[in-house]
Amino acid sequence: MNIETIRNDFPVLKKDVIYLDSSCVSLKPKQVVEAMNKYYYEFPACAGRSIHGFGSKVSGEITAARKNLANFFSTKPNEIIFTRNATEGINLVANSLGLKSGDKVLTSDKEHNSNLLPWQNLTKEGILHQVVLSNQDNTFNLAEFEKQIEGTRLVSIVHTSNLDGVSFPVEKIIKIAHRNGALVLLDCAQSAPHKELNMRKLDADFMVCSGHKMLGPSGIGALYGKAKLLDQLQPFLLGGSTVRDATYTSAEFEGAPAKFEAGLQNYAGIIGFSEAVTYLRNIGMKKIQHHEQELNKQLTDELLNLEAISLIGPAGPSQRAGIFSFNIKDKDPHEVALMLDQSAKIMVRSGAHCVHSWFNARNLKGSVRASLYLYNTEEECTTFIDAVKAIATL
Ligand code: ALA
Repeated sequence: MNIETIRNDFPVLKKDVIYLDSSCVSLKPKQVVEAMNKYYYEFPACAGRSIHGFGSKVSGEITAARKNLANFFSTKPNEIIFTRNATEGINLVANSLGLKSGDKVLTSDKEHNSNLLPWQNLTKEGILHQVVLSNQDNTFNLAEFEKQIEGTRLVSIVHTSNLDGVSFPVEKIIKIAHRNGALVLLDCAQSAPHKELNMRKLDADFMVCSGHKMLGPSGIGALYGKAKLLDQLQPFLLGGSTVRDATYTSAEFEGAPAKFEAGLQNYAGIIGFSEAVTYLRNIGMKKIQHHEQELNKQLTDELLNLEAISLIGPAGPSQRAGIFSFNIKDKDPHEVALMLDQSAKIMVRSGAHCVHSWFNARNLKGSVRASLYLYNTEEECTTFIDAVKAIATL
């Protein structure tokens, strides 16, 4: 992986900042921005409706983008639904699966609000929501999961946690869930940008991800669902493009994915998202993953032994992907983040990272989270380490 070549693709890096907040929003390579501009400059029309030149061009681009996303996740185009983001994908499943009073949904204790609130909300309708508590070191407790799986209709679980970078053993989780008759929805918002995901091999029933964390634009994401399940799901939003025909009193719905994509879509976003996965594929997900692990090792080796630092998650960097989430004794996480920004133009995220439930259960205010991606360098990590050490000794 040639980091300098990669960095040249990200014009914003010329601003001389150290961007360690890619788990929130990744930077975008110029290829993605150019592909989106091309839509607006050259064929800014609607897909699947108008049959004029611009209309046919954009229809072709959207079909190609869906195919590209399907290839990226080793699945079929009709199993990819474009959404605004992972959050919308989870809400779509929650509202379309036809869960009934008494149905049980299992999540972990490390879910982002997006994979917690939709299920909490359904408890008003009698859905049972149970949480599987993690091990002491924040890894997944399979034994506990096996105890709770009986009678579950859906397991909705994060693949890689945005809190600490820990990946759950989803292969085992899926096998156990299926053996017990439960469906599985994987929240891959934090794994899809960093590792190879093969839906066919994994055998998950549903999967969601967001473009904005994987070099794509914001406001676009994807929901994968097995074709036979998508056929059974009732559309959540209704409108243009979801039907073949309608009268004043009835409608004949399209199949998936059209029945889930109501109204005019974010065409530039879809095109940009597709360009982003092409970029990732060209670099190679294994190389990206390896690069982040090396950098996380550097951070861990240098910072974990400092007395003032407490880490969230297991000590081993290989267990935490590209995330180093920590606190400095007696320092507010937001204060640390501001100091890093002001002293060395280092951008990290601080606070509860939308996992308020986990922090509240531990009476913690939050953490400082450095998250790495393919454009970060060893030198940047050294600057970060020095800045954290300086703050820790204040
Ligand atoms: N879930 C995103 C993050 O962790 C927003 O920053």
